[in-house]
Amino acid sequence: MTDMDMESLRKDFPTIRKGLGIYLDSACQSLRPDQVIRAMDEYYEGFPACGGRSVHSMSTTVSIAIDDTRSALASFFGTDDPECYIFTKNSTEGLNTAAYGLRLKKGDVVVTTDAEHNSNHVPWLRLRDSVGIERRMPSSGRTGEFNIESFKSCMDRKVKVVAVQHSNNVTGCTVPVKAVSEIAHDYGATVIIDGAQAAPHMPVDLKRIDADIYCCSIHKMLGPTGMGIMYGKREVLERLDPLCVGGGTVGLATYDSVTLAPIPDRFEAGLQNYAGIIGTKAAVEYLTHVGMDNIERWDKELISRAVGNLEDVKGLHLVGPDQPGKRCGILSFNIDGLASHDIAMMLDSMSGVMIRSGMHCAHPFYVSRAVDGSARASTYLYNSRGEIDIFTDTVRKIAETFGD
Ligand SMILES: Cc1ncc(COP(=O)(O)O)c(C=O)c1O
Repeated sequence: MTDMDMESLRKDFPTIRKGLGIYLDSACQSLRPDQVIRAMDEYYEGFPACGGRSVHSMSTTVSIAIDDTRSALASFFGTDDPECYIFTKNSTEGLNTAAYGLRLKKGDVVVTTDAEHNSNHVPWLRLRDSVGIERRMPSSGRTGEFNIESFKSCMDRKVKVVAVQHSNNVTGCTVPVKAVSEIAHDYGATVIIDGAQAAPHMPVDLKRIDADIYCCSIHKMLGPTGMGIMYGKREVLERLDPLCVGGGTVGLATYDSVTLAPIPDRFEAGLQNYAGIIGTKAAVEYLTHVGMDNIERWDKELISRAVGNLEDVKGLHLVGPDQPGKRCGILSFNIDGLASHDIAMMLDSMSGVMIRSGMHCAHPFYVSRAVDGSARASTYLYNSRGEIDIFTDTVRKIAETFGD
């Protein structure tokens, strides 16, 4: 796709057509195109029944749509078995299911990075306190970049799980997950990847990465809110305990026994977010149509432009790597003398630019570096160069007028 083609995608997004502001908060949740909204409307208007239970025609339409979404996901992520895709609420639910489902024991070691989102940090902390697992973390430097030598030094036969982010939500740094996966497997460890920030912004080939479990959030990928995916290799899912059980997860239950349903059903307890599942298919089809390579290139182009525009702003400090190409659609920064929430509110009120501020659920990263959070702009395929210029011009004005 040419740059012009990328800019023309903007017409598919209702909030952009309506001029509702400049949205630079896609690392939190993305905007949705008409195609996704329409797919969900079609469900509510045409066949708003449950899937996988009733045998009437409306319900059968839903069951087929669910299967279609799993097939679309398998083809999007380059794997063969659609049943290996479990629908979750978000990455957090997938990561918790993985952490609690592996039946870890006292003394088992879990290796993460030292810059994880709380969703891949707090479950392990709780397992440390309840079960007695041990945590190890390779140290990332000032910029938060993954250090593979430090990672190797954490590994031995006591390591049962390696659970790392694919890309970071503060710095945008990307972990070489294929290499990590290979090393972890050499030690017999199970590999869990938090793909929340990477999956929306780059091609992800799950066969190549060879992770045992990969979680991501569909609401960061143009999809419906409250939708996520936990992918797992079949043999890994078959030995994983579900986090939540009940309706839909059971083969047969008597008064005192239960056999679980096969995967994926055993992980999808209760009625599901059918509109969300249907919208998920529309979202991955849209992303496929644009091309993940194009999306990756466009994010780089926009972030490089922003970094270039901000280079000489006095008192502005970027958080993360110096090379814009390593930022995966994320630009975190601080301005001397200003709290990040104040920067975010001023950007909104002065120019209608929406960014995020605070610690971005990555508290250990900030606390360990004695930094009180940051402002964070994050791009996606629908942002334009013009929007980036308005954002950076406004940041410059804020720094010059209100900064130290
Ligand atoms: C790296 C990373 N992991 C996990 C999450 C959690 O995602 P969710 O809130 O969709 O569960 C996020 C959300 O921003 C994230 O950026």
